[in-house]
Amino acid sequence: MKLQPMEPLSRTHNCGELRPAQAGAEVVLMGWVHRRRNLGGLYFVDLRDRYGTTQVVFRPEEPELLEQAGGLSAEYVVAVRGEVAERPEGTVNEELATGGIEVHAKELRILNASETPPFVLEDPVKAGDELRLEFRYLDLRRPHMQRLVQARHVAAQTTRNYLSSMGFVEVETPILAKKTPEGARDFIVPSRLHPGKVYALPQSPQLYKQILMVAACDRYFQIARCLRDEDLRADRQPEHTQIDFEMSFVTEEDVFEVAEGLMQSLWRDVRGEEIEVPFPRMTYREAIDRYGSDKPDLRFGMEIVDLSDLLASTEFKVFSSAIERGGVVRALNAAGCGDWSRSQIEELETIAKKHGAKGLATAKVRDGSLDGGISKFLSDEEKRSIVEREEARTGDLILFAADRTKRASQVLGQLRIWLRDRLGLVEKGTFAFAWVVDFPLFAWNDDLEAWEAEHHMFTMPKEEHLECLETDPGKVLGRLYDLVVNGTEVASGSIRVHRRDIQERVMAVVGITPEEAERRFGFLLRAFDYGAPPHGGLAPGLDRLVMLLTDEDTIRDTIAFPKSYQGLSLMDGAPSAAEPQVLDEVGIRFTRSDEEDETD
Ligand code: AMO
Ligand code: AMP
Repeated sequence: MKLQPMEPLSRTHNCGELRPAQAGAEVVLMGWVHRRRNLGGLYFVDLRDRYGTTQVVFRPEEPELLEQAGGLSAEYVVAVRGEVAERPEGTVNEELATGGIEVHAKELRILNASETPPFVLEDPVKAGDELRLEFRYLDLRRPHMQRLVQARHVAAQTTRNYLSSMGFVEVETPILAKKTPEGARDFIVPSRLHPGKVYALPQSPQLYKQILMVAACDRYFQIARCLRDEDLRADRQPEHTQIDFEMSFVTEEDVFEVAEGLMQSLWRDVRGEEIEVPFPRMTYREAIDRYGSDKPDLRFGMEIVDLSDLLASTEFKVFSSAIERGGVVRALNAAGCGDWSRSQIEELETIAKKHGAKGLATAKVRDGSLDGGISKFLSDEEKRSIVEREEARTGDLILFAADRTKRASQVLGQLRIWLRDRLGLVEKGTFAFAWVVDFPLFAWNDDLEAWEAEHHMFTMPKEEHLECLETDPGKVLGRLYDLVVNGTEVASGSIRVHRRDIQERVMAVVGITPEEAERRFGFLLRAFDYGAPPHGGLAPGLDRLVMLLTDEDTIRDTIAFPKSYQGLSLMDGAPSAAEPQVLDEVGIRFTRSDEEDETD
């Protein structure tokens, strides 16, 4: 294709701007050919840019122009000079901001041609995820994606304005850093100047922000990139962004107040909605008991109920033996599912087993009693009392889990979320915020047979539990809190340890010897020796917040250039094979390699 010489022709308006009031004006628009239609000797071209779409008409009165327009294809970049005209009656498009006008073309310039796009740029898009990621620049041209990019921008601006107005100072912390453990694997960067040594990419700015408190910064924030080599899910990426903040001389209340104000500002600026604060609070224990999750979706009921006291002496061995072993029998009322078929109920059991259940006992509710399923194993009194406690009615279905307390709750919690989606129990665009507090400081890892930090090991134990730190770590609660929205953990934080002695004791519980502590975290412990103030903070995940703010189901489209589920950047092909010379410079030899990569 021959590019036409560029004479000065400058854009007067964007493609979302023109209205009937401008009829008669001569304008120059520039943008992409969204669609071209041929209607009875006329060409209609929808010209698109970030701001919208404008209909441009090529008419038979201008035969040369008409012929030129005949050469246009999708995604050609063009400049059009023309006259704004009100659309004839009956052709006004109410759905389009510019639907009251069209531009009658007087001059057309092709600024660049385009290959035929590998998928149609439409909302909703029909192309598969991989193709969209490979041609991300095309995908991002879609109005839906443009709105997400815009929403994220507003969220970031609002965050900066709000936190600045609250006295927080934005400080950048290093990307080439010492390891900051947050429970994932590190990405490491070899050092050319120091062969054999590596930097770690930060899993979060955690240690730096604490050291900023020691440095008298008082209120810090950063919109921080966090890098974690972990398995990906719908709400996880190897690179994510946190609204990281930290405050000195504070309690939980101060952190909550700042975070609640931030959420209000975000919901106001991005969605134009007012949300109510303060957010309700719930202990970890309560969240697990009632919802089977430490990130409960509070938009609907369907709470888990404990039946252990009613069933302690039941003849049904599955239940009685679980209780004898110190476990529980808990249940969920799947209201209205009493007419589910055998195969539908089997599907529930499959899900339960996927989440670690040994089985799933069920029974239908009829006339104040239970029917079918396991009901034949229960006495009349047991059936009656179960129905009563579940507040169940004819046509309901009761799901029972008999197991260790946490496992039973978690299995039912997963079923609860599955039923939410299956039964359509929540509406998009509604939000239920809650703080989950009083988390245990440590969790027992069955595989490693060791205690590990539930959040991270820089969290202050509750004062009253300090004394049993060594003797009964499982009992120790941390000054730890999560902000949960609609079943998603959007933020996590804590009041921190600011004393060396306590920090060393916490590290000892998770199996870090004094030597290892010195080697890995000596710099932090040393900082604590020089007047570290009490401090605490929080880190809302920006990607997850934008996902909720834009009613998206995954964080992927809230990020301009995300990774695929395999951790690949499909557009540019990262990660790619390293050149031998580069490896040599940093003194590295690989002992394994991704076979596919070798063919690069
Ligand atoms: P945490 O690891 O809980 O805490 O992360 C804080 C918040 O960041 C978001 N998040 C993620 N989002 C997308 N992809 C991921 N892989 C991912 N991992 C985490 C979540 C989460 O709530 N330094 C502490 C915070 C603190 O204590 O102040 C930290 O990083 O929304
Ligand atoms: P069984 O006696 O193993 O045939 O199990 C009888 C019923 O109880 C089946 O519906 C099982 O799925 C269910 N069941 C088995 N183990 C459990 C468990 N731990 N919790 C709940 N139901 C279970």
